[in-house]
Amino acid sequence: PDMMGPPDPILGVTEAFKRDTNPKKMNLGVGAYRDDQGKPFVLSCVRKAEAIITSKQLDKEYLPIGGLGEFSKACAELALGADSEVLKSGRNITVQTISGTGSLRIGANFLSRFHGGPLDVYLPKPSWGNHTPIFRDAGMQLKAYRYYDPSTCGFDFKGALDDISKIPEQSVIMLHACAHNPTGVDPRPEQWKEISDIVKKRNLLVFFDMAYQGFASGDIDRDAWAVRYFIEQGHNIVLSQSFAKNMGLYGERVGGFTVVCNDAEEAKRVESQLKILIRPIYSNPPMNGARIAATILNTPDLRSIWLGEVHGMANRIIKMREQLVAGLKKEGSSHNWQHVIDQIGMFCFTGLKPEQVERLTKEFSVYMTKDGRISMAGVTSGNVGYLAQGIHAVTK
Ligand SMILES: Cc1ncc(COP(=O)(O)O)c(C=O)c1O
Repeated sequence: PDMMGPPDPILGVTEAFKRDTNPKKMNLGVGAYRDDQGKPFVLSCVRKAEAIITSKQLDKEYLPIGGLGEFSKACAELALGADSEVLKSGRNITVQTISGTGSLRIGANFLSRFHGGPLDVYLPKPSWGNHTPIFRDAGMQLKAYRYYDPSTCGFDFKGALDDISKIPEQSVIMLHACAHNPTGVDPRPEQWKEISDIVKKRNLLVFFDMAYQGFASGDIDRDAWAVRYFIEQGHNIVLSQSFAKNMGLYGERVGGFTVVCNDAEEAKRVESQLKILIRPIYSNPPMNGARIAATILNTPDLRSIWLGEVHGMANRIIKMREQLVAGLKKEGSSHNWQHVIDQIGMFCFTGLKPEQVERLTKEFSVYMTKDGRISMAGVTSGNVGYLAQGIHAVTK
């Protein structure tokens, strides 16, 4: 190349944060969970799983192309539910992937090679920033459907239905399974039902991205509701999963990619093609994170510790939402901040305008993306008051 590329918008925020010397500085850019002391959090179920794995003195031979079998099985079961008809009839194929991003990219490559319909993927407006280059680099065309309504800081249900009902048949539609990133706005179950109906009428292929199972409500089954509902309604979905957030395994890069097929024979064919796709990209996935996740999911004691810890992380975030709104009221803010409480998951779309974000960063050393998104996971009981003070000052 003869030109420098632009820096990544989210990782760029962290760089600026690191250079700031204000002791009160806050990094609300990156979506990684922090405990109430603002420290990265390693789950105790992870530490315990690591100890078990170490004690087994396992070898480090290559994994199969599709990854660790006991991981993939548990991964699919976590998403689809233990009593899923799809699992019972063996009409899914689930491969271990390099976290959610790797899963999305394998999925995008797979669709771009095999999808019979138009190679157009419809993303919610807005969507996770990385969706666009992932699908574009895989050779798909990017389109969008309305999703977020800035006037309510909520879901534009009517706009979404309107746009989806006009999507050309057999196109691909991306749905965030829960805890939509960046808006924190999810459809309600009745709304999901209508979306499912329209998607079926248009005969669209659903790509679910589930990067936050358990993180939205604290309950893994509740957060998987939309995915399971769509499958029950007869959608043969494809699905990306990540264990970055819900197990805090960010840097371990553990995820899964699932294709729900018509029958077990089709699943076998898809599996063979996924292997052919994966082999020349990274040959086979790394084992350590998959061993950790599989040990947690498949050991009843560890699994129950994990469920408690997921619940704890989700609850801390929900509490911070409430405290932030209470703090804004205490500062005397006359705006309606209810959306901060109503939004779900790691992120909050504050509704702050770019110039307000700029002031918050300049005057208060609060770092966030220009779209006004803050990671609630970076807010603690110790700094929530300061954040409220800053937000009030720039929105007066
Ligand atoms: C919507 C969404 N999808 C996928 C991912 C993938 O993350 P990772 O590759 O770390 O699993 C993220 C992470 O921020 C996300 O927010």
